[in-house]
Amino acid sequence: MDERVTLRSHLDQSASPAPHGVAAGEVIEAIAMAAIDLASLIGDGPLAGITGRNGGINPDGDIQRDIDVAADDMMRRALRNAPVAAILSEEAALPETLNAEAPLCVAFDPLDGSANLENNISVGTIFSVRPRGNDILSTFFEPGTAQCAAGFIVYGPQTTLVLALGGRVDIFILDRRVREFVLTARSVRVAPDTPEFAINASNRRHWHGPVRTYIDECLAGTGGGGAADFNMRWIGSLVAESLRILVRGGVFLYPADARPGYREGRLRLLYEAHPMALVMEWAGGAASTGRRRILELGAKSPHQRVPLIMGSARGVRDVAAIHEVIEPMFDNSDAPLFARRGLFL
Ligand code: F6P
Ligand code: MN
Repeated sequence: MDERVTLRSHLDQSASPAPHGVAAGEVIEAIAMAAIDLASLIGDGPLAGITGRNGGINPDGDIQRDIDVAADDMMRRALRNAPVAAILSEEAALPETLNAEAPLCVAFDPLDGSANLENNISVGTIFSVRPRGNDILSTFFEPGTAQCAAGFIVYGPQTTLVLALGGRVDIFILDRRVREFVLTARSVRVAPDTPEFAINASNRRHWHGPVRTYIDECLAGTGGGGAADFNMRWIGSLVAESLRILVRGGVFLYPADARPGYREGRLRLLYEAHPMALVMEWAGGAASTGRRRILELGAKSPHQRVPLIMGSARGVRDVAAIHEVIEPMFDNSDAPLFARRGLFL
């Protein structure tokens, strides 16, 4: 990209015309500033006293590490100085009111995938911004289509900000020398049809019929009667998988399965699935539970989980088509019927 466009100048140009654009720009800038500090802390890790332990259990039952607590503090502090009426963090049981008069509400996962840090694998911050409703806290329970901006930061070899704002998705990389995010990819588009899937395959025995059928077709390849020869990736870090899909396409699945605690999948609607769905759709991809579009769902509780299937439009459409042909009553059955009722086999 010839001209150097900083996040600040991008927000001045792109945010202002969007609904709630000026306020959304301030929120995004606050999150980005906190992310710059968090990127340094993550980069130093044990050198900065981060042990990866000692955090207890978060309200949703996940192990909470000292870095999760630090990331949560940093994001909260940043958002207190932004035009934010209420926040909902993965690390707190309930939403919290900040400035009741302010125009926006923000749901965030301060540090997604933090267990990966001990292996020096990419982790990230995910955020979802929506206009405050009359009843502040019920704002969070409106469908994902209410979001006016969303995105995520990946703390990896580079610190990358993916931003969905004003109906498009742009990517920025942190210039560490001047502590500034710089635009590196404008209006990114998800490839419509990349034969690559991402799923935690160790759970196959717990999957329901439609997911099992789809993955079996991917694995069969053209030699086995499938539509294409698929490649597979599983990083175990939602932000890293999402960035990969933006860059080269493919489909990501964290489905519901039969394990206790996974009946609605693993990922949380408000600060994982909704923002990723906005990013995918605004980049020309798709996001679904397999049966419903993610952005049309409203949460019933702050930490509600949801099955998430997202990425290239063709892949998400194929998974949804299989959900239509396999009756829910046969879900999770090993009946050979499934082998004959997929899309291609
Ligand atoms: O917060 C959820 C998360 O860490 C995601 O980043 C990742 O996609 C998922 O969990 C990995 O789950 P599993 O360990 O079950 O493969
Ligand atoms: Mn998470």
